[in-house]
Amino acid sequence: MHKIQNKFPIAANERLCPRFYRLAVDAKSILKSIRPGQFLHIRVTDGLEPFFRRPFSVYRAKKFVEILYEPIGLGTRLLAEKKPGEFLDILGPLGNHFTAPPKGTKQVWMVAGGIGLAPFLFLSDELKHKGYELILFYGGRSKGHVFPMKEFKNNGVKTWIATDDGSIGVKGWVSELFRTLDPNPTTTMVYTCGPHAMLASVQSFVKARGLRCEASCEEVMACALGACLGCSIPTVNGYKTVCYDGPVFDIAEVVFS
Ligand SMILES: Cc1cc2nc3c(=O)[nH]c(=O)nc-3n(C[C@H](O)[C@H](O)[C@H](O)COP(=O)(O)OP(=O)(O)OC[C@H]3O[C@@H](n4cnc5c(N)ncnc54)[C@H](O)[C@@H]3O)c2cc1C
Ligand code: FES
Repeated sequence: MHKIQNKFPIAANERLCPRFYRLAVDAKSILKSIRPGQFLHIRVTDGLEPFFRRPFSVYRAKKFVEILYEPIGLGTRLLAEKKPGEFLDILGPLGNHFTAPPKGTKQVWMVAGGIGLAPFLFLSDELKHKGYELILFYGGRSKGHVFPMKEFKNNGVKTWIATDDGSIGVKGWVSELFRTLDPNPTTTMVYTCGPHAMLASVQSFVKARGLRCEASCEEVMACALGACLGCSIPTVNGYKTVCYDGPVFDIAEVVFS
């Protein structure tokens, strides 16, 4: 049985665009066991501040285990200072994962907002060559939140981009990209990840059209093992933990307040 907590050497830590970084660790012992949608709980310092680990979706698990992250606070800023060769204390892989598209699916939509893009490269790695048309609808705040989509395009993913300020792609929220589309509910599967407001709008879109949709949810976490209940969210089936019951939920189940 492999350990759930390990220290892995950093293979790369680089800025991909003004706002986003990619960090890769050489983690062969967990590489093959990770599924798209799962996350890693990372200790970003040997000191006491910040005290808790920080959760990150797995961006890719190919040669290395990679995360895509945005420095927004102390923990992620400390992460951005890490150098190749340093070791990172990682708990994971944790949580559930996206399920495969149901039989009959022809088109797969990935709807991402901001750093909610993170789980979808790995998902497209898994789904390419399986005969689906893969489409990514991505919304970022500005040009600085959009990095070259080369790796997605290499996976055959058609990418549609919107930015809040219109500095690249269509001006407006990501929902501008698909609100007038009318996908076939029997042949389309939707996966989504991003801020609550975006998930809520995706939820009403898919509900109105009877589309199947899984959402990867984010909450501030402490233990990430289902023990402290700190990451609980309301669902139609009562409160559930994002770290243990999720982070992936049938979007119809989640109550976005
Ligand atoms: C399952 C899961 C997967 C995630 N995947 C990624 C990922 O792939 N890449 C990535 O960059 N981030 C991801 N996050 C968010 C990431 O964990 C936070 O950005 C990080 O914990 C911030 O730590 P910090 O110390 O830098 O900022 P802090 O100082 O802790 O927070 C800075 C600000 O961000 C807010 N904040 C912190 N965490 C969250 C959150 N989860 N949702 C909304 N606001 C938050 C705080 O309230 C505060 O205002 C994920 C979170 C979860 C739960
Ligand atoms: S973070 Fe402790 S239960 Fe989810």
